[in-house]
Amino acid sequence: MKAFAAEQVGLGLDSARVRELPDPTAGAGQVRVRVAAASLNAADLKVLEWRDGASFIHGKASPYVVGYDFSGVIDQVGSGAAGLRMGDSVFGFLPYASKTKSGSLAELVLADPSWLASKPDALSHEHAATIGTAGLTALQGLRDKLRMRAGQKVLVHGGSGGVGTFVVQVAKKLGLTVVATASAAKLDAVRALGADHVFDYRTTAVAALPGPFDGFFDAAVKSSYSECKGILSSGAGYLTLLPTLSLVTGKLRSLLSPHHVEFLGVTAVRSDLEQLAAWVLEGAVHPQQGTGFRFENAHPQENQ
Ligand SMILES: NC(=O)c1ccc[n+]([C@@H]2O[C@H](COP(=O)([O-])OP(=O)(O)OC[C@H]3O[C@@H](n4cnc5c(N)ncnc54)[C@H](OP(=O)(O)O)[C@@H]3O)[C@@H](O)[C@H]2O)c1
Repeated sequence: MKAFAAEQVGLGLDSARVRELPDPTAGAGQVRVRVAAASLNAADLKVLEWRDGASFIHGKASPYVVGYDFSGVIDQVGSGAAGLRMGDSVFGFLPYASKTKSGSLAELVLADPSWLASKPDALSHEHAATIGTAGLTALQGLRDKLRMRAGQKVLVHGGSGGVGTFVVQVAKKLGLTVVATASAAKLDAVRALGADHVFDYRTTAVAALPGPFDGFFDAAVKSSYSECKGILSSGAGYLTLLPTLSLVTGKLRSLLSPHHVEFLGVTAVRSDLEQLAAWVLEGAVHPQQGTGFRFENAHPQENQ
C-alpha cells in the first residue's frame, strides 16, 4: 500500500514521504479499512516531531505512518471483530496511544471496531474524516470535563484552530453563549461559526476578556489557570489539552478555589462520533478543512 510515512517517529515532517509499505492484515478483533479520506491535526505533527510529551504516550513506531483520523470502507474483518462487515462505510480515529500501530494517511488502516462508527450515506468521506480528533475533543471537553449546560457562557481560547472551530460550533449547539479568541485575520471566520463575541488574542489579554465564564476551554493551550481564574464564575471549570507542569500547578491551586482544573485526553466513543456526524448532517457543525490533497502531492520535491 501507499502511505505517508517517516522511517521512524521523532524525525520530523521533512522525513515523511509517500512510501510503499506491505499491506497490513486484520488480526483478531480488528478490521481493515480502505481509506477514502484522512485528515491531519496539529497533534499529529507533534508525534512526528516527538514534541509536547508525545514520547510518553506513543510507541516508537518504525516506519511511522502519519495521521489518526479517517473515513473509508471495511475491506477485511479479523476473527472476533463483531458488529462490522465487509463493505461497511465507517469513520473514526486511532487512539493517541502506544497500542496504535497504524496511521491514517495510508491506503489501508487497521482499527478496533470500537474506534469506529458507521458513516451515514449523506455524509461525505471528507467531512467524516475531520470529525475524530477535533470533534471528539470539543464534545468531550465541553460536556464531560467542563460540564457545560445550556444558558451558560464559555470562553474558547483559540477558536480558529482545528479543535477550536469544533468547540465554537458544538458549544452553540449545546445552547451556550460563546466568547472566542483568534488572530485578527480569523475573527470574522470565527464569528461566522457562531461565536457571540470574538477577540484578538494578540491585543486582548486573557484576564481582560469579558467574564465571568462558566467554562474556559483552552483549545490553543496558551494560557494557565492562574492567569484566568479572575474571570471564572464560582463552580467554573478550566480545561487544557496538554499535560504540562502548568496543569499540575493549576490543579493544586484550584484545590483551594471554587473552580476545577481539567485535562482531556480524547478517546474514541462510538456514540459521540455518531452525535457529531448527525450535527454535521443537520448543518449545525461545518467542518473547516481544506480538501483535495492527494498522495501524489504529499511531498512535491519527492515527486518531481
Ligand atoms: N489532549 C488531547 O486529547 C488533544 C486533542 C486534540 C488536540 N490537542 C492539542 O490541542 C492543541 C490545538 O490543536 P489544534 O489541532 O486545534 O491546533 P491548531 O489547528 O494549530 O490551532 C491552534 C489554535 O491556537 C491559536 N493560537 C496560536 N497562538 C496563540 C496564542 N499565542 N494565543 C492564543 N491562541 C493562539 C490559533 O489561532 P490562529 O490560527 O488564529 O493564530 C488556533 O486557533 C494542540 O496543542 C494539540 O496538540 C490535544
